[in-house]
Amino acid sequence: MVEEKNLTLEEQDRIRRMKWWHEARFGMFIHWGLYSVIGRHEWAMEMEAIPVARYEQLTKQFSPKPFPAREWAKLAKRAGMKYMVMTTKHHEGFCLFDTHYTDYCAPKTCGRDLVAEYVKAARSEGLRVGFYYSLMDWHHPDGARCAEDEAARKRFVNYIHGQVRELCTNYGKLDILWYDVNWPLSAEGWESAKMNRMVRELQPDIIINNRSGVPEDFSTPEQHITAESAGRAWEACMTMNESWGYHQADDAWKTPKQIIRNLITCARDGGNYLLNIGPKADGSVPEESVRILNTVGKWMDKYGETIYAAEPCDVKRSVFANFTRKGTTLYVHVHFWPGEEWAIGGLRTGVKSVRLLPRGEPVEFEQNEFRVRFKGLPAEAPDEPVSVLALECESVPTQDMMFVRKNMPRNSQLR
Ligand code: GLC
Repeated sequence: MVEEKNLTLEEQDRIRRMKWWHEARFGMFIHWGLYSVIGRHEWAMEMEAIPVARYEQLTKQFSPKPFPAREWAKLAKRAGMKYMVMTTKHHEGFCLFDTHYTDYCAPKTCGRDLVAEYVKAARSEGLRVGFYYSLMDWHHPDGARCAEDEAARKRFVNYIHGQVRELCTNYGKLDILWYDVNWPLSAEGWESAKMNRMVRELQPDIIINNRSGVPEDFSTPEQHITAESAGRAWEACMTMNESWGYHQADDAWKTPKQIIRNLITCARDGGNYLLNIGPKADGSVPEESVRILNTVGKWMDKYGETIYAAEPCDVKRSVFANFTRKGTTLYVHVHFWPGEEWAIGGLRTGVKSVRLLPRGEPVEFEQNEFRVRFKGLPAEAPDEPVSVLALECESVPTQDMMFVRKNMPRNSQLR
């Protein structure tokens, strides 16, 4: 751990701003827009080359039911999520918020500020609020030509900065600004450093992602879980099927077990997990997503303590379990329950006690320099989709499989 006194003021401020975010570990991503009317992925406009004038007609069918964000926020809370990030404008260019830079926005097409509704819903469930905002814009006339035409770039940057200012001014305190796709300009072209200075002036506590082309506060591995090097914050964003926006025919749903395992891996490696829902045009959440999140939530009710505020964990290797750590407590998350007796190899830290969560029944165990072996466990998995043991260790647990490979006696003596 780096001594706080050696940190710059900027680094100290980042630690202060990001404390809640690191503890939260789990958030909800929401992709919602005109593409939800089509129901064929949020890239439909470009992938099917739908002409702008035709795409604009979708506004006539985009008239959500009353206050759907309340359902999302309740669902997020039930699932154990601590924050939400909603698309305020995706690549299609349609704004869910009130803006005086364009008429192509929900308040002017359906008479409602859907971002205001979202903020209210999230806050009333005690969840932190994030705004996703796409820099790439397939609707704005300058959205592509800004790369070649300096006058267009100036107009477009004015538009983008102006909207970001509106978002940071009109909705109270914001917790996260989540930029997306910075095509076709570089960070210089977008004037990202200046834009983010403005954001921080308006929202001193805000956390900003890396997709405006400057690193800012955190990295955003997408559809995969890859830890950043130590000291750099990261959040893996993932879908539950293969689409971010509502995709009616996409049935490639992950199982609740897969999602819980992903969350555990993020928490193990010091990252966050931002899990997406793609509401339908009326705002309702696809039934399968609700079912999955309810299962995740039941698990989090019992085992959330092993996830929230988890610290990076050196122990990673097993073919049936994964791990998280808090202080000197190691949590063994078993997703393929092996039965009454099994072991974790390579644990190089003394174990003082072992308990089976959530109730904490003591578990019999023995340990030598190569492994810790558990005995007298239930034959069947005590819980679904993942069962958890808590190991109190003498110090921060470490694992060294090489030590096992190199040093385990190569003879037939029974140990
Ligand atoms: C990509 C996609 C986009 C999605 C985003 C989420 O950049 O273009 O549709 O919103 O990832 O991370």
